[in-house]
Amino acid sequence: MSPLMTTIVAVVTILNVLACAWLIWWTALRRPGEVAAGEVKEHVWDGDLRERNNPMPRWWLILFFLTIIFGLVYLLLYPGVIRGTLGWSEEREYREEMQRAQRQYAPIYAAFAARSVVELASDPKAVALGRSLFANTCINCHGSDARGAPGFPDLTDNDWLYGGTPDDIVRSITYGREGVMPPLGPALGPQGVEEVVTYVESLSGRPEPADKVAAGKARFVLCAACHGPDGKGNTAIGSKNLTNDIWLYGGSDATLRQTVTEGRHGKMPSHQWLGDDKIHLLAAYVYSMSHPQQAP
Ligand code: HEC
Ligand code: HEC
Repeated sequence: MSPLMTTIVAVVTILNVLACAWLIWWTALRRPGEVAAGEVKEHVWDGDLRERNNPMPRWWLILFFLTIIFGLVYLLLYPGVIRGTLGWSEEREYREEMQRAQRQYAPIYAAFAARSVVELASDPKAVALGRSLFANTCINCHGSDARGAPGFPDLTDNDWLYGGTPDDIVRSITYGREGVMPPLGPALGPQGVEEVVTYVESLSGRPEPADKVAAGKARFVLCAACHGPDGKGNTAIGSKNLTNDIWLYGGSDATLRQTVTEGRHGKMPSHQWLGDDKIHLLAAYVYSMSHPQQAP
């Protein structure tokens, strides 16, 4: 809250407390002409119905005052009108809770640190821990089944943009990855795009007209620097393998045309903040999905 807003809230709070105290005191005052407590009042209803003057019991009244005192003490100890003499803050509570969790859980994760990712991929306990970490941090992008979505790679298929060794996976998670496919529409022109797309489609075994494939192949020199002369990709820069009919953005005519014309820019954020031990377990889980023979 802004300082002005804080001041307004503080003043309104104090005025409210004072108003409550005054209201209780004022209603308890004896009015002129009022009969004594327990006595019958003068007026009569329905011929014979009479009313006694029964003030609220004293203990009930005291409860109201105690509530007000409690409120004032609370406002003195905790942030409200002033900062609070206990020094409590949401942020400090959050920090302390995180530290407590860290102390409690860190040893659980650390217990797996000494064993290799490949070994952990066949340990049911390690894979279960990795799976729950994945559910907390990764499924927004990679999906709860890790099968990804257009632009977000499937982590179960053993086809890798950046390599699938334990080291590659750990590096992908720790530092993040960024793939840049430049827009090549301007360089190729509509016909050039059409031809190169036909060639790319032929790479994964689709039957395509031979003349267009040959024309596209000639244009592929533009692509070969990144995707390799055979189109099998380069894990150093995350350029896709274009020959296995597995697609990051999609393999339809229209999608391929769009990819080549407008380019693509996939970004996996760094997760270094998780710490080495959690990343180790995450890598084991990711590795286990694409190596079912090793999975528990
Ligand atoms: C904000 C979205 C996002 C989150 C969160 C995210 N990823 Fe990714 N991840 C991506 C994208 C996008 C790519 C592909 C990057 C590219 O196209 O170059 C990727 C790539 C990867 C790769 C490399 C895949 C390959 O084929 O080489 C791995 C491994 C991976 N992510 C694992 C994880 C794990 C484990 C987590 C959770 C700790 C995670 N990711 C969280 C978006 C995300
Ligand atoms: C500067 C390097 C570079 C050049 C040149 C390049 N690409 Fe790419 N290409 C990439 C990268 C990197 C990706 C992955 C992008 C990402 O992860 O978001 C990619 C992705 C693609 C995809 C998406 C595949 C999928 O699974 O959805 C297609 C298709 C593609 N490129 C075709 C081509 C063609 C055809 C050419 C030549 C006309 C070409 N690229 C030129 C680097 C390049």
